[in-house]
This record gives sequence, C-alpha cells and structure tokens, in this order.
Amino acid sequence: MAQRTFSIIKPDAVRNGATGAILAEIDKAGFQIVAIKKQSISKQQAEGFYYVHRERPFFDALTTFMSSGPLVLMVLGKENAIADLRKLMGATNPANAEEGTIRKKFAASIQENAIHGSDGEETAAFEIGYWFAGYELI
Ligand code: CMP
Repeated sequence: MAQRTFSIIKPDAVRNGATGAILAEIDKAGFQIVAIKKQSISKQQAEGFYYVHRERPFFDALTTFMSSGPLVLMVLGKENAIADLRKLMGATNPANAEEGTIRKKFAASIQENAIHGSDGEETAAFEIGYWFAGYELI
C-alpha cells in the first residue's frame, strides 16, 4: 500500500505565485494528491503544529511567518512517500539544496523555504491528523 506523507506549500511560495509550479513538480514525481486545501492559519495553530520546535530561537519568527498568509495543506500518497518528498524538496536551507529540487527553485531562505514535508512515519501521522479529519482522507 502507498505510504502517506504530509506537506505544506508555505506562505512565501503561495505569495510568489509558485503554487501551480510546485504542484506540477509533485505530480511529475508520481505523488497522488490524497487531500488538499488552501487556507490561512492562526499563530496558535502554527505553534501547535511546530510544538517540537518550541524551544528553538526561531520558533516565534517561524510561527509568525506561517500565519502570515494563505498556505496549501496536502496529504500525498506514493510508495516511499516520506523519503521521496524530502528528496524532491531539497535541504531545509535552500543555499544547500541540490539543483532541481523545489527549495532550490522556489525558496529564498531557511525560514521562507517554500515547502514542508514530514520527516518520518510518526511525524506524518501526527501532522496529517493535526490538519485533516478522517472523512477528508477517503
Ligand atoms: P520545516 O520543514 O517546515 O520544519 C521546521 C522549519 O523551521 C523548517 O522547515 C524551516 O522553515 C524552519 N527552520 C529550521 N531551521 C531554522 C533556522 N535555523 N532559522 C530559521 N528557521 C529555521
């Protein structure tokens, strides 16, 4: 059975008009879009999502950025979806991202880095459940 991962097209990429191009990259790489929704989130919602980073010095700036405008929340399905999406995204800091990756093409900085993808199975389960109800994933 295909594995599921969770992804966000972040507010910088949505603001820059890159949503369609990023969705095309995801599609071309063989991911199925299991669920997708565009919305704005509150700072409190962002803080809950990034709770594991609460002690980091960038936590306040990160959650302010993530609640600064609309983003696109997605559940993606594919064999090996978690690792394959992280490969397609490229390094967290776009300065270190490989040619051809989404962050190399569309990201400006380590904070405004265009896309998020779950980093493991447990994280994916938490992140999917945080943003999507079961009935949205049929
Ligand atoms: P993401 O994959 O969404 O997971 C956590 C986010 O924190 C990460 O992408 C970056 O946007 C952000 N981040 C990680 N490290 C830093 C840092 N050193 N400075 C600012 N933001 C960071």
